[in-house]
Amino acid sequence: MACRPQLTPVLRRLARTASELSRQASRPQALSLARTAAAAGGSRSLSSSQPRPFQPTPARRKAEDDFTSTKYPGIKRDDRFARLTPDHVAHFRSLLGDSNSVLIDGVTDAEAAADDLEPFNSDWMRKYRGHTQLVLKPASTAEVSQILKYCNDNMLAVVPQGGNTGLVGGSVPVFDEIVLSMNRMSQILEFDDVSGTLVAEAGCILEVADQYLAARGYIFPLDLGAKGSCHIGGNLSTNAGGLRLLRYGSLHGTVLGIEAVLPDGTVVDDLSRLRKNNTGYDLKQLFIGAEGTIGVITKVSIQCPQRPAAQNVAFFGLESYEHAQRAFREAKGQLSEILSAFELMDEGSQALVHRVTGFKRPLESTHPFYCLVETSGSNADHDSEKLSTFLESVMDKGIVADGTLAQDETQLRALWAWREGITEALGHLGGVFKYDVSIPLAQMYQLVEDTRARVAEAGLLDDSADGTHPVRAVVGYGHMGDSNLHLNISTRRFDPRVEKVLEPFVYEWIAKRQGSISAEHGLGLAKKKYIGYSRSEGMVRLMKQIKGLYDPKGIMNPYKYI
Ligand code: FAD
Ligand code: MLT
Ligand code: ZN
Repeated sequence: MACRPQLTPVLRRLARTASELSRQASRPQALSLARTAAAAGGSRSLSSSQPRPFQPTPARRKAEDDFTSTKYPGIKRDDRFARLTPDHVAHFRSLLGDSNSVLIDGVTDAEAAADDLEPFNSDWMRKYRGHTQLVLKPASTAEVSQILKYCNDNMLAVVPQGGNTGLVGGSVPVFDEIVLSMNRMSQILEFDDVSGTLVAEAGCILEVADQYLAARGYIFPLDLGAKGSCHIGGNLSTNAGGLRLLRYGSLHGTVLGIEAVLPDGTVVDDLSRLRKNNTGYDLKQLFIGAEGTIGVITKVSIQCPQRPAAQNVAFFGLESYEHAQRAFREAKGQLSEILSAFELMDEGSQALVHRVTGFKRPLESTHPFYCLVETSGSNADHDSEKLSTFLESVMDKGIVADGTLAQDETQLRALWAWREGITEALGHLGGVFKYDVSIPLAQMYQLVEDTRARVAEAGLLDDSADGTHPVRAVVGYGHMGDSNLHLNISTRRFDPRVEKVLEPFVYEWIAKRQGSISAEHGLGLAKKKYIGYSRSEGMVRLMKQIKGLYDPKGIMNPYKYI
């Protein structure tokens, strides 16, 4: 169960824009939009090169029972790993230097370093919390290589960490593993404005890369709600999918090359800039989605498309999931090459965002489901006409009950915030059990309904504002265009009965339909023991052999993944 007490940037953005949206007409409109690529690029929030500022004050420091090791006593520290000593720290100081900006040392003085270590020990959801006493922040591939070689030689376990926005507990230590933070490796190294090839260090923040590209007429082929904090190296390591996979495809297709460091310090130089390269095994693919278990990605080369000159968004309400499927079918047919996102939100998820922000809803009445459709193309008038014709047609056919079109950049952002703000709203309300799954589209939402019924039957659900049962709501939203559902169970307080009702029920439900228990967030610690629901024994064995080949001593991100 995750607990996240603070309002965070997407919701603040919503707060800025929703009141403006609510002043505007909220009924369907057929208006011509003209936005420039630069305007679209400038629309996003954080561009800091620092991690998200959610450092708890000592007063808010969590209790002993918040440690992952206490919550999950079945996970035992592997005694093959050495414990850190001041001598190890002295060695790292000799490599990196002495300042707190390159090394946080809680080995020599645990109390003095406690506050500085805390953000590296706690994950974004505040669900997982480790005991690291040492954070290392290398500034070059050579430094990463020296660190890993030393760790490998001395049996010191390591957790690579990017922006620490991962949602499966993969980015923070479980016990005393060293955190290797990529924050200082954030440079953009090259950009070819003819081919669109970008080469950057792995610690470059996704939004920084995208803004750099926006200024040159290009776009990063991945976008997600955590863009202001996550790193492109972290994106590759989780094989993040995000909001426009429908349009730009998976990172397995857009990444051209990587540079990585293996646990023994070997630098793997596969930083190709070529789109086509059939010379042997495509080893970079193994690092995409490896979640830091076989090495550290240090550089990324990626194919970036031309930034669309026009982006338009429609947001509409529907009376059933069946209607949402019909709308998706129509959107593909009518919008075809300009369709860039098709997202689904149920009423429960939107009610939670509304409750947290207090802002007026985009549509006048509520509906069981909502979809957000985005188009990206080269001709603003043409695209906008296509989208409004689409909206009129699905309304005429009785597929869509009500809808609205963004009339300008501010409204476009406000509509997106109703979708992107769900994750943060859920965290703000207390605990949340998150399931990120792929299921054949026809059956996708049934999982939410069956889970809701099961939780209610167990007497755990109470959706009234002053309810007393542990579960506040069972909601679903996600990337409908990719058959990727986010099932979330919002809770008022931690209650072990909830987890028992949910697991393995959810995983068994998915396995019966040949779905995937992790569509885009990865395995981390949260899903490690459930991989068998989506992968055969033979596949898991092969994965373990690969892990053994790349990381024979098992120092990379232990206790997770497989
Ligand atoms: P971290 O969280 O720091 O790390 C993630 C994993 O990668 C860890 O196992 C870590 O050890 C490893 N790692 C990090 N950097 C490296 C490296 N350089 N080399 C080797 N291993 C490394 N995910 C989606 O797929 N789609 C979404 O739409 C989406 N939306 C999100 C919205 C919000 C609000 C939040 C908080 C998260 C969202 N995520 C989403 C989840 C998350 O996977 C992504 O935010 C992102 O890809 C993680 O990047 P990061 O830099 O924060 O990585
Ligand atoms: C999203 O699509 O919003 C993200 O994957 C995060 C989440 O699942 O909440
Ligand atoms: Zn998602």
